[in-house]
Amino acid sequence: MSTLLVTGGAGFIGSNFVRHALANTDHDVVVLDKLTYAGNLASLGGLPPERFRFVRGDIADAELVADLTAALDPATDAIVHFAAESHNDNSLAAPRPFVDTNIVGTFTLIEAARRRDLRFHHISTDEVYGDLELDDPARFTERTAYRPSSPYSSTKAASDLLVAAWVRSYGLRATISGCSNNYGPHQHVEKFIPRQITNLLRGDRPKLYGTGRNVRDWIHVDDHNSAVLAILERGRIGETYLIGANGERSNLDIVETLLELLGRPRDGYDLVGDRPGHDLRYAIDATKLRTETGWTPRYTDLREGLARTVDWYRDHEDWWAPQKAPTEARYSEIGR
Ligand code: NAD
Ligand code: TYD
Repeated sequence: MSTLLVTGGAGFIGSNFVRHALANTDHDVVVLDKLTYAGNLASLGGLPPERFRFVRGDIADAELVADLTAALDPATDAIVHFAAESHNDNSLAAPRPFVDTNIVGTFTLIEAARRRDLRFHHISTDEVYGDLELDDPARFTERTAYRPSSPYSSTKAASDLLVAAWVRSYGLRATISGCSNNYGPHQHVEKFIPRQITNLLRGDRPKLYGTGRNVRDWIHVDDHNSAVLAILERGRIGETYLIGANGERSNLDIVETLLELLGRPRDGYDLVGDRPGHDLRYAIDATKLRTETGWTPRYTDLREGLARTVDWYRDHEDWWAPQKAPTEARYSEIGR
């Protein structure tokens, strides 16, 4: 029996990962999460106590991290590092927590991992590569130069560079994955797709930044997490793998699909002010991951995935309703 120490396991992707790992592997799971505004224990309800333990704390707390890693066995166990400040708009308004968690927090974890020679997997993002033109035939690969735009993406880029340097200089047994935009259940309502779904469920209009032409490459959260497991099991130490499922869509296209799924008129959205420095387009070439690990995504029909996500938010208003008013209050402060 082996254990995964999952940081940020009360957040969107981390909580889906915990469920996925408990259902599809025989690993036990320990979650370390600070429960910031983005963490929600309700996302971890009903898990088997004999295989799952929750610890509230900060990844930048070196003593706590040393205690938790002391209990891991380097021969079988691993750290899977999801914890981060994750929202670009928040990073523009207040960058400091992004430096503390994304950079200092990651530093604290890799120092603990190297002391105990623990296998480490670092969850990162395609946003470290900056953006692409709308008509550029190129997509991001593992060889694309880093060119991050925001406090969020630059602190994620910094954390990637720390992990890569710890691999080379200290022999840390680490892999890195850079995934495109995720959607699915338990995503905070500050993010694009849940914000629009919950606006529509409350009778409000979706809010599109700028003209809605920006493109994101959407992947279902379960496909992200099956790729993370594939990398943990079959990835080569020291390598970076990009994760994507050929889901490029403009923001306008996504909003029009949601309006149609909820039976609203196609033009029933508002254009609001643009995000400063707003990345135009992200697109992932996941050939390396597919050829080296054999991973393939299951959710290849984005419309179907969105319909299931709409159903989830409709059925789980108790989960998202407490976050909705404070989130919209933050958006009205910045005029979006
Ligand atoms: P999220 O904001 O939903 O969750 C982050 C979690 O980390 C929360 O539970 C929060 O309480 C916890 N956390 C924050 N600071 C902490 C700290 N100092 N110590 C301990 N816990 C802390 O984020 P998410 O969308 O689930 O993203 C998870 C990871 O995936 C992040 O590393 C993010 O950069 C990466 N990622 C996200 C996406 C996406 O589309 N959401 C895409 C690619 C990569
Ligand atoms: P977001 O979910 O914040 O993810 P990221 O910035 O990491 O890509 O936003 C996704 C896209 O949607 C991005 O182009 C910004 C845009 N957006 C809107 O148009 N309206 C919104 O209300 C939000 C939150 C985002």
